[in-house]
Amino acid sequence: MYTPNSTFFPTTLNYSVSERRCGANSPEIERDAAAWHVLLQCDMNRLKGKVAIVTGGSLGIGRACAIRMAEEGAAVAVFDVLGTAGEAVVAELCGRGFPARYWSVDVSKESEMRIAIDAVNAHFGHLDILVNNAGIAGPSKPTHEITEAEWDRVQAINVKGVFFGVKHAVPHMKHAGGGSIINLSSIYGIVGAPDVPPYHASKGAVRLMAKTDALIYAPDRIRVNSIHPGFIWTPMVEGYLKPSGDMAAARRAVDALHPLGHMGDPDDIAMGVVYLASDEAKFVTGAELVIDGGYTAR
Ligand SMILES: NC(=O)c1ccc[n+]([C@@H]2O[C@H](COP(=O)([O-])OP(=O)(O)OC[C@H]3O[C@@H](n4cnc5c(N)ncnc54)[C@H](O)[C@@H]3O)[C@@H](O)[C@H]2O)c1
Repeated sequence: MYTPNSTFFPTTLNYSVSERRCGANSPEIERDAAAWHVLLQCDMNRLKGKVAIVTGGSLGIGRACAIRMAEEGAAVAVFDVLGTAGEAVVAELCGRGFPARYWSVDVSKESEMRIAIDAVNAHFGHLDILVNNAGIAGPSKPTHEITEAEWDRVQAINVKGVFFGVKHAVPHMKHAGGGSIINLSSIYGIVGAPDVPPYHASKGAVRLMAKTDALIYAPDRIRVNSIHPGFIWTPMVEGYLKPSGDMAAARRAVDALHPLGHMGDPDDIAMGVVYLASDEAKFVTGAELVIDGGYTAR
């Protein structure tokens, strides 16, 4: 029986790609670099020449997507409402020689999305990739206790934000001759759980929005897919677990929901985003990429 071997399939890297590029040669780095050479054929240019927008790129999964896409050669536009954190991501990327820029955008506001998307197209010359990542968890209480305002806030960011992104990115992608749109859904867009009802509704919506848009825009060579993460350790999940009081116990309980025995890292999702954004996925549209440690396999 084949047993995955962490020697050859590292789940995390504890050094940066630039260290690897500079030829640092500890045994650990050599071992992991060899593994990534096999996995990625040492090709760090899978998105070379492409321009990508990542909404919610200041923290968590979006930040990891921005970094990994830049490392693969994309020029990256970070959209977020957290300016200090977003500017820090961009400063890190620019410091490593990668083209990147921050735009202050609330994805729930159509005019802000339209103006910023047009500005990205004008600044970088074209637009090829849109990662609709910005999202909030919203209130975790039973449906009958949720106010209309709480419900609307989650849908405004998680659903309308995706709609505005697609609406204003598509004309530029058509002009560029194609593109890749990736909607961050969730395991909560596939199966139910007794918590966060507006969030479940929103993630189910963006899952089907991806399929519908995949069909509408296939003739324009614009691919649209959804990604469905299990629990990933980010500020969102930290905030979700905080009310439990005992964070360590809460983490262990959430870890145990995943057959692989632990939550994921933001990079686990970013690697899927890189794949769907790249030409390696040129025949993939309307698909659901589940990255959940086995959560939905039961
Ligand atoms: N972390 C998980 O376990 C998990 C699991 C499944 C799906 N997801 C989805 O992945 C995406 C990212 O999640 P995360 O865990 O990294 O979240 P996070 O809270 O750690 O980061 C979300 C980012 O989105 C930004 N954002 C929030 N509202 C915004 C708005 N109105 N306009 C612009 N930016 C806004 C935040 O400022 C933040 O930078 C979300 O759509 C989330 O629903 C996360």
